[in-house]
Amino acid sequence: MTAANDPTAADPDRATLDRLWARGTAFLGCPMAILGGAMSWVSERHLVSAISNAGGFGVIACGSMTPDMLAKEIAATQAMTSKPFGVNLITMHPALDDLVRVCLEAKITHVVLAGGIPPGSAVKAVKDGGAKLIAFAPALVLAKRLVRSGADAIVIEGSEAGGHIGPVSLTVLAQEILPHLRDVPVFVAGGLGRGDAILAYLEMGASGAQLGTRFAAAKESIAHPNFKKAFIRANARDALPSVQLDDRFPVIPVRGLVNEGTKAFMRHQAETRDKFQSGELTKETAQLAIEHFWAGALRRAVIDGDIEKGSVMAGQSVGMVGAEQSIAEILQELVGQATAALAARRQAA
Ligand SMILES: Cc1cc2nc3c(=O)[nH]c(=O)nc-3n(C[C@H](O)[C@H](O)[C@H](O)COP(=O)(O)O)c2cc1C
Repeated sequence: MTAANDPTAADPDRATLDRLWARGTAFLGCPMAILGGAMSWVSERHLVSAISNAGGFGVIACGSMTPDMLAKEIAATQAMTSKPFGVNLITMHPALDDLVRVCLEAKITHVVLAGGIPPGSAVKAVKDGGAKLIAFAPALVLAKRLVRSGADAIVIEGSEAGGHIGPVSLTVLAQEILPHLRDVPVFVAGGLGRGDAILAYLEMGASGAQLGTRFAAAKESIAHPNFKKAFIRANARDALPSVQLDDRFPVIPVRGLVNEGTKAFMRHQAETRDKFQSGELTKETAQLAIEHFWAGALRRAVIDGDIEKGSVMAGQSVGMVGAEQSIAEILQELVGQATAALAARRQAA
């Protein structure tokens, strides 16, 4: 390529950004190392193809889909984009092996295994099938173990994120993991809403970033208008983790917008605990009653628009959702903020 036809020649800051995330773009096979984090009910054909068509990397959220449903969703997405995209599978799905097979038969290039340490059989199937495996690491020791067992890339997701979360913030995870894990690309996630913040993590050694919340409210997202409006109105402090009332009955923390449902969940935990204490419920049935409280609740919020009783999963980055923008606008804004930060620094030097 000559200087005359190199698009980055006129923009030294974009060239710097492209150099900083080169490992990520090469791994994903797209021009921007920004993954659209899989969001159950939200990350379907429309959002995923829009992200990939705009230069990012879309990821289908399989969630609780059956293998047949996933096969249809992949085919529909492939009909809407010729660009690469991934599929996120939850490791505790009872049909995990079949879901992996569906991905491989559809020639999916990147499989994300989420929701716990992936079983060896699924790791082997993904790798033997020729797809790249992306896994989540909540600590350095687990990141290293995942890489030894075959993960081709790692996502480190801080507790600022929307949805199911771990206990540690991205600021701390990044310091714990980025300086010590160089074998594979590492993507940062959780609370990211601006390009200059992504830039800072790239400079620490990340290869790219994964965002969910900002994309959920995009024009191309099929989320109900009520869901998007709630995102546009909310501040960072409105996106809180679910609270566990009694440590005998564990609750996996989920970050979302506080609403009637979150208050009812507290009452439900208290009533269930009381029933256990009075002997009306066994420990096991009480635990199940607590776990089942939120069944179907994300769908109620995302698809039906019930943002009062449904589960409005959102990251702290929700405070940076200011309008219903197109995916292309969001991606351009993120790149623009990163390159503006680089330009300001270059001009000050
Ligand atoms: C509504 C919603 C649903 C989500 N569902 C999933 C999911 O099904 N699987 C998954 O691995 N992560 C899920 N996530 C997490 C995202 O993939 C992503 O990592 C996270 O949103 C990043 O943090 P951010 O929201 O601050 O951008 C979800 C997040 C949101 C907001």
